[in-house]
Amino acid sequence: MVALSLTNLVVAAGVALLSGQGVLGAQLARVNYPNNATSKAEISPPLVVVIHSCQSSAQSYFQNAKIPWHQGSDRKGYITLWPSSPNQGTCWDVSSRRSLVRNGGGDSQAIANMVAHAVAAYGVDPARVYLTGGSSGAMMGNVMAAAYPDLFRAVSVYSGVPAGCFISAGGGVAQWNNTCSGGQSRASAEQWGNVVRNMYPGYDGPRPKMQIWHGSADSTLAPANYQETIKQWTNVFGVGQTPTSSVKNSPQANYQTDNYGENVQGIYATGVGHSVPSNLTASELWFGL
Ligand SMILES: *[C@@H]1O[C@H](CO)[C@@H](O)[C@H](O)[C@H]1NC(C)=O
Ligand SMILES: *[C@@H]1O[C@H](CO)[C@@H](O)[C@H](O)[C@H]1NC(C)=O
Ligand SMILES: *[C@@H]1O[C@H](CO)[C@@H](O)[C@H](O)[C@H]1NC(C)=O
Repeated sequence: MVALSLTNLVVAAGVALLSGQGVLGAQLARVNYPNNATSKAEISPPLVVVIHSCQSSAQSYFQNAKIPWHQGSDRKGYITLWPSSPNQGTCWDVSSRRSLVRNGGGDSQAIANMVAHAVAAYGVDPARVYLTGGSSGAMMGNVMAAAYPDLFRAVSVYSGVPAGCFISAGGGVAQWNNTCSGGQSRASAEQWGNVVRNMYPGYDGPRPKMQIWHGSADSTLAPANYQETIKQWTNVFGVGQTPTSSVKNSPQANYQTDNYGENVQGIYATGVGHSVPSNLTASELWFGL
């Protein structure tokens, strides 16, 4: 299916899983062609992968007023890619071992394949690929950063859990995990870091810088998941868990921004529930867009 409008081309295509487990549902890639008046068209545009929450889809996330990434694409000329979950309930599979390891044949590999397709088909600059997501999409964002660190330059996730936190003891696909969602999955920074390292064993190349958003009043994914996620990524980057700088009321009132060196930033939103709304400006800034 191809839909064409004056300045935008929307393409949806099936992407086969390498494992031969079948074909995922439609994935939506929106390619932006700015008009000449505001031309920011680039020969090798950046790409932002935007991953939806449960009970959503590429199309409905695209149309969600709280997820303003298409506006950024219109203004700045980067391409956005909107994967759509093939699972019942449309949560992403962040519980099966297939998805929690590089090239395991799960949803994470399907998204990696979509990125490769976008790079090849739309001339995306592979050094400027970014990822954002909310809730289940944020969980998947952490998994993508762990299993495919070579694909992404920076990640900005809203209201998720650490990579691997939703693992299913029985190996089920796209399972809910009450222990993790309730904030009872606690581990040391080293243990959480090992979860990331074990998703792509032996990898020692660059990793995406991580921006982690969470609300203090989150009753779906307990706020403890914020601190556990910070522990995980600070360990991966080999930095301490004491912020190197903290800014109160930033980027807005009652949000606090904590930096842990240059590669990990936490933004904790006091009084905000599930899910923290995307701040396009702040995430674009993190990406350098
Ligand atoms: C608009 O930009 C395209 C691509 O750079 C160029 O080929 C075309 O001539 C431009 N059109 C006008 C009216 O400037
Ligand atoms: C939920 O996840 C934790 C790790 O966060 C894991 O130890 C536990 O086995 C999982 N629960 C189920 C029911 O699979
Ligand atoms: C988003 O972040 C920017 C700074 O990066 C800030 O100026 C702006 O107020 C924030 N937007 C909202 C809606 O809070």
